[in-house]
Amino acid sequence: MKDRLLEIERKASRELEGVTDPEALEQFRVRYLGKKGEITSIMRDLGRLPPQERPEVGKLANRLKEKLNRLFEEKKRDFGPGRRDEKAFLDVSLPGREPPRGQLHPITQVLEEVCRIFVRMGYRIVKGPNVELDYYNFEALNIPKDHPARDMQDTFYISENVVLRTHTSPMQVRTMERHPPPVAVIAPGRVYRRDSDVSHTPMFHQVEGLLVDRGVTFGDLKGTLTSFVHQMFGKKTALRFRPSFFPFTEPSAEVDIRCVICKGEGCRTCGQTGWLEILGSGMVDPAVYEFVDYDPEVYSGFAFGLGIERIAMLKYGIDDIHMFFRNDIRFLGQF
Ligand code: PHE
Repeated sequence: MKDRLLEIERKASRELEGVTDPEALEQFRVRYLGKKGEITSIMRDLGRLPPQERPEVGKLANRLKEKLNRLFEEKKRDFGPGRRDEKAFLDVSLPGREPPRGQLHPITQVLEEVCRIFVRMGYRIVKGPNVELDYYNFEALNIPKDHPARDMQDTFYISENVVLRTHTSPMQVRTMERHPPPVAVIAPGRVYRRDSDVSHTPMFHQVEGLLVDRGVTFGDLKGTLTSFVHQMFGKKTALRFRPSFFPFTEPSAEVDIRCVICKGEGCRTCGQTGWLEILGSGMVDPAVYEFVDYDPEVYSGFAFGLGIERIAMLKYGIDDIHMFFRNDIRFLGQF
């Protein structure tokens, strides 16, 4: 019986060394410490020993049981939480845990992408004030005080002659006022209108474009904006130039792209037309050149104004503009 105990001890120790996973450890426990395990069967057999030997062998068996129990518990800690094993505790080969990280607002991302496209085409970035003189926002853009076009844009007035700019077009005038032709600039920034529904917010973003030189034609405008649309939405995106009116361009055109939601079938987002407007444009009206001393007999040019939220909504298929301004990082974090 004592020999059997020694034999079990040797076997168990050897086996435990080979245990490398929790399943093997559980098998070990069942085999030695379980109800039908080796130790239990020894305990049962004690009765067959001569009475005087029972206490000694019983004590040895108990000690072995305690020892195996201890070894088992120690091994278990290697696999569970709070393991002692240094290698497992500090496993330098594990992928690192990324700290939470901020990112640019989707509108900023789209704004920067639009700017990158035009900078690649040779345009320079200019910036101007959000609080603007009536003169630049309206007057010098051929929109006199009582012009009906003022009603098109619900203006926030600061005072009689100062407004929150309703578009980035004042930068056309500010640019030409300071630089003789040729000019090729884009002016990104915030604009403000008294308007709020699913597709309008009181503040939104535009990128203005202006190119003036000798011999610039409507063909240049079409080529430039077509290239932009292809770079922004993909080469296969269909677009159309639709006749329109702005007091500071003549002729004027709005550009529509094929509805990205329904692909032209007609849906809620495009108002069943299959087309979505993304920008206003046109050849700079000679009346504007008067304000900045450009000679309309020598120079011609085009201008355009892109709505950034609009473009971002179409690019990402978002049907509520307010999502951009609720500051829900679960939404903003997806871009
Ligand atoms: N400023 C116009 C708007 O906000 C867009 C535009 C810009 C149209 C330049 C023509 C030329 O609606």
